[in-house]
Amino acid sequence: MAIQADDIQDALKMVMHPEEGKDVVSLGMINDLNIGDDTISFTLSPQKQNDTALEKLQQDCIDAVNDLVSSDVNVDVTLGTFESHNPLEKIDNIIAVASGKGGVGKSMVAANLACALAQTGAKVGLVDTDIYGPSVPTMFGVNERPNINTKRKLIPLEKHGVKLVSMGFLVDSDQSVIWRGPMVSSAVKQFINDVEWGELDYLVMDLPPGTGDIQLTIVQNIPITGSIVVSTPQDVALADARKGVAMFNKVNVPVLGIVENMAYFTPPELPDKKYYLFGQGGARKLAEKLEVPFLGEVPIEEKAREAGDQGTPIVVSDASLASAKALTKLAADTIKMLKERKEKQPPTETVDIKIK
Ligand SMILES: Nc1ncnc2c1ncn2[C@@H]1O[C@H](COP(=O)(O)OP(=O)(O)O)[C@@H](O)[C@H]1O
Ligand SMILES: [Mg+2]
Repeated sequence: MAIQADDIQDALKMVMHPEEGKDVVSLGMINDLNIGDDTISFTLSPQKQNDTALEKLQQDCIDAVNDLVSSDVNVDVTLGTFESHNPLEKIDNIIAVASGKGGVGKSMVAANLACALAQTGAKVGLVDTDIYGPSVPTMFGVNERPNINTKRKLIPLEKHGVKLVSMGFLVDSDQSVIWRGPMVSSAVKQFINDVEWGELDYLVMDLPPGTGDIQLTIVQNIPITGSIVVSTPQDVALADARKGVAMFNKVNVPVLGIVENMAYFTPPELPDKKYYLFGQGGARKLAEKLEVPFLGEVPIEEKAREAGDQGTPIVVSDASLASAKALTKLAADTIKMLKERKEKQPPTETVDIKIK
């Protein structure tokens, strides 16, 4: 009688992984089974990095088939390579940029932070999750539908050294207004999981403005390394920034700090003057009160707005401007804080489950 796939499976179920305490079939290690006239072949794929038991298991599989199914067949076991199914393993840091209010320059900060991080030579991605007002297409001057690769993953577009994905690439703006909260948060999860990010040092997330259910669901479901809250100096914006910090505290996402955008204005003809149009020092005081770092003042500059409208963030188009300098410093501080955080945190413990 010809050998059936079930017979092979049953035999291989007897091959136990010495460390995992389960058999190789249950662990999903057996792939591409092919039953020929006198040869049985399959791939034995490790389910973890550096599986030291692999070669022993290869021999155990050969023995199991020969002992339990047929001693006459040749058993050809190819060793597979480990492929991580968790895209987040390849992303070192996820930085969320949030604001309590819309229009405070959250997207401008996120876009420039991403570009400034990329300018240090880091591998950077930017995901624009603001479905109701996506800004990445305008700020980077790209608006194409991204391609899908053979693994059915979205290939991010790339500009100024940053890999980009935006709701704006995928959804027509007149459609987005009918999206409800749960749709938005599941789409955001897909943005992280179903995009071929490759290896990234930093993934910057431009969150939708506000601190409601949508934002809360996102920050609860994505392992954010650190968050940056953007505010303008007005009292109303500061009150909302406080809510932003409270939201992150509630879900234990570390707040890297508060940055004050549109902090002051310097007329080009009076380069030594700083006019604090909306009040001075508000965000700094709020940061002190909430015991989070103050990440600096970004002035309001006509060229910063123009740069955003023309598809080239200011740190790329004119690094000598005061706003560009403040944003480059923000990126440097962010790198430093994330590094310190990592060094302070104990390395993740691995848990070995052994069944005797
Ligand atoms: N520091 C700044 N100087 C000049 N214009 C700015 C500055 N920050 C933001 N803008 C402009 O203000 C508008 C709103 O900024 P945006 O980043 O889209 O806000 P948000 O994402 O918070 O809604 C944009 O046109 C942007 O280019
Ligand atoms: Mg925005």
